[in-house]
Amino acid sequence: AEPNVCIVGSINMDLTVTTDKIPQQGETVMGSEFFANPGGKGANQAVAAARMGANVHFIGAVGDDAFGEKLLTNFANEGIQTGGVETIPETATGTATIILSDNDNRIIVAPGANHCATPELAERHRSKITGSDVVLLQLEVPMETIVYTVQAAAESGVPVILNPAPYQSLPDSVLQGVHWMTPNELEAKGFAEDPLYDMIQEKLIITRGDKGASFTINGQERHVPGYGIFVMDTTGAGDTFNGALTAEIARGTAMDEAVRMANAAAALSVTKVGAQGGMPTKQEVEAFLQERKASK
Ligand code: RIB
Repeated sequence: AEPNVCIVGSINMDLTVTTDKIPQQGETVMGSEFFANPGGKGANQAVAAARMGANVHFIGAVGDDAFGEKLLTNFANEGIQTGGVETIPETATGTATIILSDNDNRIIVAPGANHCATPELAERHRSKITGSDVVLLQLEVPMETIVYTVQAAAESGVPVILNPAPYQSLPDSVLQGVHWMTPNELEAKGFAEDPLYDMIQEKLIITRGDKGASFTINGQERHVPGYGIFVMDTTGAGDTFNGALTAEIARGTAMDEAVRMANAAAALSVTKVGAQGGMPTKQEVEAFLQERKASK
């Protein structure tokens, strides 16, 4: 049977403009192209997990506008269960305005309806949290919702993976309650300063961009190297890692292998434009790993 994953998180429309030149203060520049693509860290991770073969239940919120409708259709096309996604009246769907240039992306999120993904909303869909194999969270919905979800999952013995992005300091109950956290190198620096660092160190799976990922088991550091790959758009690479990792862990895959799969999935995701563009299926990840093995 497919592993069950529940994601409580954000849903955005990504408004991306590509440009050679990033404007300075007060400056107008001519860019190249514009795209409106589905995004949001929660939604991206859901798509990545679904393409890796997980049965994904999403809990979150969109506004009652055209973006919201499009994003719900996108979920349906990806086979994601949307019973836990509420449409909030007179509210705008979340957006992310993205300036994309060579090897650089800059993002500003306007949360909109994602602010309405409250503990009360999560409570209405609690059985999706408690009935899943693994719960996956990010930090684009209110912190009280993160606290609530970690608690609800713990009460049913469901492990939680938290992607601490965008980075903010976390309540002790969250640091203690989650099983794994997946900061990037910058976010990991924030944890290194936390008084609870000794307790959380073994929970960290640190993503290092094209250098791969590292984690610690029984006091021993492990490193999974990255891949040299043609980069088109790194937006959503971390999300692909998280979605794929969660699908694999939910399936019962051992940590080393799960990180290896997630790392390969993230590498494939950067070859196409858009956060969800390029996110591979499990078959594509397996084929890529075979190919890389053969060419060694
Ligand atoms: O991680 C990438 C995502 O961050 C984008 O899709 C954007 O919506 C922001 O949430």
